[in-house]
Amino acid sequence: MKPMRVAVLGHGAVGAGVCAHLLAHPGRFTLNPVLVRDPAQHSAGAAAELSFTDDPARALGGEPDIVVETIGGTGLARALSQSVLREGAHLVTANKAVVALDFDRLHELAEENGRSLRYSATIGGGVPILELVDLLARHDTLLSVEGVLNGTCNFVLGQLGQGVPLAAAVAEAQRLGFAEADPSADIDGLDAADKLAILVRHAFGVALHPDQIACESLSDLSAERIAAVNEEGLVFKQIACCSTTADGGVEARVEIRALAPDHPLAGLVNEGNGALLDLPSGQVGVFGKGAGRWPTAEAVFADIMDIQRETLLPAQSASHQPENPLSHGRQMSS
Ligand code: HSE
Repeated sequence: MKPMRVAVLGHGAVGAGVCAHLLAHPGRFTLNPVLVRDPAQHSAGAAAELSFTDDPARALGGEPDIVVETIGGTGLARALSQSVLREGAHLVTANKAVVALDFDRLHELAEENGRSLRYSATIGGGVPILELVDLLARHDTLLSVEGVLNGTCNFVLGQLGQGVPLAAAVAEAQRLGFAEADPSADIDGLDAADKLAILVRHAFGVALHPDQIACESLSDLSAERIAAVNEEGLVFKQIACCSTTADGGVEARVEIRALAPDHPLAGLVNEGNGALLDLPSGQVGVFGKGAGRWPTAEAVFADIMDIQRETLLPAQSASHQPENPLSHGRQMSS
């Protein structure tokens, strides 16, 4: 088997985890120099097989088969995501903001260039929320989805419930590698809104800009409200929810809800993620670890392995391809 050339962009919590997975499979992958802002900082203590560059042209040199985007944000990452597909590489990305904003363009570029676009890590980290949505939406009518899609908020809400101040809880979530580079994206619900926009597209075929999703911020929770909810034996959760409306549209929002302890999402602790999917026949749930280096890197690596499998065995894997969400469903709605 000829090794696939992989270009990894970014070497933060997720990028470093992805590199470790790739290096653990010698002979299957060749790694380009990893794109980082400060190569010297990343070289210290890194595996001898890894090299680093701050030059995108070097990181993307040698016509990589697969580009893995873990830089995050909507600056360089957004521009590179489109250009690598245009230039003929497969793209695996963990960047929910970019996928939410450029959903159609990225899918079109992948299709035009006959390349794969994979982003299972954008929702749920290691929890197969998107995979379950795809599976059920293909065979049934989804009525609504509600989920805990942000591990940082789940962790922080747990800490607030134990009396830890917001700033200290957020700092700990950053230390543990759950939080975004700017943790206000977690706390204000924007990260969950990006994920929800992608989920709505897969569940209902409806295009929503993340700005169309109303979000409640954790910073609006007063100490008194937290104490009252604790006293009642309830637990606060940040819930991203979406459902179809009578007029054929979709309603989506990110809110903070006080759940009874026997609610299926109430038991998610720390960086837990989970989702409940309502079908005419009943409810289906999926739960697990949703943020941090390993859950997210494992989802990225699973996408890489899927692409390698497809490339090696195109005929056999055709039936296992994720459905192109552009090919079904309703049109724009708000
Ligand atoms: N900051 C995100 C979270 C990372 O806490 O869920 C995983 O998407």
